[in-house]
Amino acid sequence: MDVKKIREDFPILDSRGIIYFDNAATSQKPVQVVNAVRNFYEYSNSNVHRGVHKLSLEASKLYEEAHEVVSKFIKARGVEEIIFTSGTTHSLNLVAYMLGLRLSRGDNVVVSIMEHHSNLLPWVYLSKLRGFEVRVVGLGPDYDLNYDELANLVDNRTRVVAITHVSNVLGTVVDVRRVSKIAHENNALVVVDGAQSVPHMPIDVKELDADFLAFSGHKMLGPTGIGVLYFRKELQEEFKTPFTGGGIVEEVRYRNGEFLVKLLEPPWSFEAGTPHIAGAIGLAEAAKYLMSIGMSEVEDHEKRLASYLISKIRSDPRLNEELVIYGPSDLRKRGGIVSFNFGNSNPNLVASFLDAYNVAVRSGYHCAQPLHDYIGASLGSVRASFYLYNTQEEVDVMIEALNEYAKLTRQS
Ligand SMILES: Cc1ncc(COP(=O)(O)O)c(C=O)c1O
Repeated sequence: MDVKKIREDFPILDSRGIIYFDNAATSQKPVQVVNAVRNFYEYSNSNVHRGVHKLSLEASKLYEEAHEVVSKFIKARGVEEIIFTSGTTHSLNLVAYMLGLRLSRGDNVVVSIMEHHSNLLPWVYLSKLRGFEVRVVGLGPDYDLNYDELANLVDNRTRVVAITHVSNVLGTVVDVRRVSKIAHENNALVVVDGAQSVPHMPIDVKELDADFLAFSGHKMLGPTGIGVLYFRKELQEEFKTPFTGGGIVEEVRYRNGEFLVKLLEPPWSFEAGTPHIAGAIGLAEAAKYLMSIGMSEVEDHEKRLASYLISKIRSDPRLNEELVIYGPSDLRKRGGIVSFNFGNSNPNLVASFLDAYNVAVRSGYHCAQPLHDYIGASLGSVRASFYLYNTQEEVDVMIEALNEYAKLTRQS
């Protein structure tokens, strides 16, 4: 992978002189994506699936092609499995409402303690509405998911197992196939939060054997406001969209005081209202960009950077003493995310200090407060998260800045 060449596609990086290690929050966008969005607005802008004029047909074609590209990106069975949403949070709420409204007292949904609030709160809210139970799986050794506990918690009243693929705090990579096996043996459905996996590793939804997979465009080089819900084809007869409106209708009649409603086939029946057409086109361009580089290359590169950062910290006696690093020490089980705390320092203070060195990291709870309580990091943590355009030299600058911080805290 030619990182130097890749960086030329991201003018923000070198023109601002910022070391951008906040990729788990959102990624930067290559010129190819910016141009695709711009071209659409400049030359093809129109609404989709609503008109017979040239521009509308062209916009519809581009929008449909975007579904095809995304389907290829995650190796889905076809466009019918690719629903565009506004992002992971919207996708997860959509599934939660579609599945959760059918549940009742006595049923349960199993989540893990690693979940982002977006894969936690929709289930918690619906559980209060419908009276079902939310069960929480903890961690096993080395920050891994506790698969034994999962197997114990899942029973014949478990309707859904909702699990993150990669923890946005620990970097832990969950063995989704193993989770799917446990869930499916008990006739439960599997909802996967892929916000931190799909942008960073090769994904084959058929291999994962998940029923739903949610992810965001903006974390994978695409625009904000566009995301995806993969929805396994075989389930589409049974589960229908909970949200309706214009643009998804084949026929609506009002006769003899009755409404007769026939919706389009999926995915279109799930995309009520005017969608984010330009966003979808930008997302498809982002997916093409990533495919042209190769997702295995992207994954290896990020893992190398994470392992380089960790080994630099471990081999520096002062940093090694001061820093607590969270997440698997077995680097094969970790993605390109490294969260840590510096002694008792407030994570926001550490992040502000790094910012003075132009190193952008995230600090706080990263929308996973229960997890931070669970791992004993009540103030949150500092998180560095990598992407394909980051370099070892940038990690060196971060190490230098951390050393300066260590000197200061020693003096005070
Ligand atoms: C694991 C995980 N799930 C869900 C989300 C929510 O993504 P979005 O804000 O794009 O909806 C994030 C974003 O940080 C995430 O890291």
